[in-house]
Amino acid sequence: MNKIAEIFTSLDYGPAPESADVALAWLAAHDNTFGHFINGAWTKPGKTFASENPANGKKLADVTDGTAADVDAAVKAARAAFPKWSALSGYQRGKYLYAIARLIQKHSRLFAVLETMDNGKPIRESRDVDIPLVARHFYHHAGWAQHLEREFPEHVPYGVCGQIIPWNFPLLMLAWKIAPALAAGNTVVLKPAEFTSLTALLFAEICDKAHLPKGVVNIVTGEGDTGAAITGHPDIDKIAFTGSTEVGKIIRRATAGTGKGLSLELGGKSPYIVFDDADIDSAIEGLVDAIWFNQGQVCCAGSRLLVQESIEERFIEKLKKRMSTLRVGDPLDKAVDIGALVAPVQVERVRDLVKKGVAEGGQLYEPDIDVPGGGCFIKPTLITNVSTANTVANEEIFGPVLVEMSFRTPEEAVALANNTRYGLAATIWTENVNLALDIAPKLKAGVVWINSTNNFDAAVGFGGYKESGFGREGGKEGMVSYLKAKWEKELKPFVAATPKAAKSANPLDDAGGVDQTAKMYIGGKQARPDSGYSRPVHGPNGALVGEVGDGNRKDIRNAVEAARVALGWATTSAHNRAQILYFLAENLEYRADEFAARIKAQTGEDGAAEVAASVERLFAFAGWADKYDGAVHNPPQRMVATAMVEALGAIAILAPPSRPLLGSIALIAPALAMGNTVVLVPSERSPLSLTDFYQVLETSDVPSGVLNIVTGESKVLAKTLAEHDGIDAIWFAGDAETSAMVEKASAGNVKQTWTSRGLYYDLSDKAKFEGDYFLRRATQVKNVWIPYGA
Ligand code: NAI
Ligand code: MG
Repeated sequence: MNKIAEIFTSLDYGPAPESADVALAWLAAHDNTFGHFINGAWTKPGKTFASENPANGKKLADVTDGTAADVDAAVKAARAAFPKWSALSGYQRGKYLYAIARLIQKHSRLFAVLETMDNGKPIRESRDVDIPLVARHFYHHAGWAQHLEREFPEHVPYGVCGQIIPWNFPLLMLAWKIAPALAAGNTVVLKPAEFTSLTALLFAEICDKAHLPKGVVNIVTGEGDTGAAITGHPDIDKIAFTGSTEVGKIIRRATAGTGKGLSLELGGKSPYIVFDDADIDSAIEGLVDAIWFNQGQVCCAGSRLLVQESIEERFIEKLKKRMSTLRVGDPLDKAVDIGALVAPVQVERVRDLVKKGVAEGGQLYEPDIDVPGGGCFIKPTLITNVSTANTVANEEIFGPVLVEMSFRTPEEAVALANNTRYGLAATIWTENVNLALDIAPKLKAGVVWINSTNNFDAAVGFGGYKESGFGREGGKEGMVSYLKAKWEKELKPFVAATPKAAKSANPLDDAGGVDQTAKMYIGGKQARPDSGYSRPVHGPNGALVGEVGDGNRKDIRNAVEAARVALGWATTSAHNRAQILYFLAENLEYRADEFAARIKAQTGEDGAAEVAASVERLFAFAGWADKYDGAVHNPPQRMVATAMVEALGAIAILAPPSRPLLGSIALIAPALAMGNTVVLVPSERSPLSLTDFYQVLETSDVPSGVLNIVTGESKVLAKTLAEHDGIDAIWFAGDAETSAMVEKASAGNVKQTWTSRGLYYDLSDKAKFEGDYFLRRATQVKNVWIPYGA
């Protein structure tokens, strides 16, 4: 039988291979050996390693393993290029980005084929998804370059950005990093992942063809050590990383205390929730995309299937049937659904995790389909009978492996969905719009797809909650990651007034009479310090003006617990939060004289002015509560993406030593306005203004646990708070050394941090601090994708 007749009888696909010729010719033109792309030119190849095709194990090229000296040369080139590049008008920079976009489109097939050969992903995906999204990203950001000054007044680029990317979407991740960085006026040193350097090198040549000024984009290839040389380089101003949570934490620690900007896009274990009224066939197709797109090597892969119990059996049956029609094979074959994993080591890793899943009681299903030998191929895999404690339900597998669990009620679905340290994405399937829009805000994830999955667009921010990282890529919220307020680059060190020594060293030499030691304020109640010790508070001349409790680890634990119990504050209407903050301001104003006197007693400064400024600040953020909101993005898909501004959760705030009242108010007001609960450590030196504040709180309808106050030694309490997994973000105003410690200790659960690093932030400055500076830091953006059209 001839081939066509054979296919006709079997109704099977014939091979439809895409030609590799042009990609091979490009590699050959470079003698299949590459140096780095630094300062607009290729360096001589150094010690090299092979870049292989995981579909057949064949070497494609040798690329150079970047040394610290290579990284240094690239940073120097980027630094030298920065002044001119950042001084170009946005329009001029935009034209370069536009030229790059056009060249990528022109050479899109070459890019797609090379990507598929180096990474193993099906050509259908690289051709129809990856590369078009790359071009779109450069187009979109050409516009941002031009509109920068209008949309981000008084903002400047960081300078030199170090960017480290993973291997799952090699060119797309490059685009996500480079396009916004250049639009904002930064120059970059980018390191592709060791398995997939080739399209980044092809991109370097495109930069050259676009006549991009030398040194604006530098590509250094290499492994983890090369990445570490970038994150550790002292002349880099910002690090942007996408990759594993493990390495993200290493980078958080490595950059602590350096003042480098940092954005982290890390792992995920994203839930895919199917309610019983879902359009099941569509949900199954969506699921194919969610977990078998790119062999499941997707940070936001819908890898945890949660199905409502009433349809579970039917759904799984249909799913298995669909799995048996998936085609695993040569990634260059246009009719293949699932290609090769990126490298043998990943195949090992995935197999080990699957084994573990089975050993822990999971039920394995693999369809009876053909898989080619000799490459990194794994069948689509389903594991059912899984419980929340199982490894496969918690670890990011990063392969074509779906794990399934069932739920009964929407509440249980939300609880299961959020039962993970990650928070990158989530998918909801239901025909009930009320249900979908009720669930979406309850999911702790940066992206939520309704009746669809894996939608991406340059205009829509992407990024995680919790241990999936922080910072957004794409859209206006992504541009923010590459810009800094102009004034912030010009801050001077904070010189603390040296407090006069206490008049007496005897701890019993207190004020006498009835003990008035101020207590802690936890869960809406005054609480004695666990330590049983108090701390003296001295005035400007060294005289004792009062005492407060000496807070310890136990007090912090109680305060964090209270703050978590009160997290419902975020779902109180913004109008209500505004009313409460206004009321707080009003009640503070009633006692203005008393508070002014207390400030003067502690600092000798004009208390009346500070109280007035504090009242005004509370008013300002009461006013913001219902105004600092999101946007509706219009991606090219028939969907809208609503960028919702959400609270971070429980924020730890350590107020500066100066300005006993305003120093705390300036920080807690934006945090509370946006719906966060707070554990506050007021000024270590002058805490009495905040311990007086309890009474104001009690008369102002602030729900218990929303603001908790622990007095004590700022540095000690900062450490406990930074290490505490119940805290979602931490702000520390104080010395550089403690700031560094806070940033380092925050790596444990990837907290967002703001620290003053020993610099003087004049919190009384309304122009700087009455607006979005802290609002932005008190919130995270969730993009909810909603389809429209029948
Ligand atoms: P990885 O996180 O080690 O690699 C990502 C990038 O970081 C690469 O360019 C690598 O060279 C670089 N790197 C490694 N160590 C570094 C260090 N100490 N300092 C600076 N840069 C460093 O990811 P890997 O090892 O390739 O994959 C392991 C697992 O990580 C995967 O199986 C998957 O679970 C997860 N992963 C998640 C990704 C995501 O987007 N969520 C992407 C890649 C991996
Ligand atoms: Mg490769």
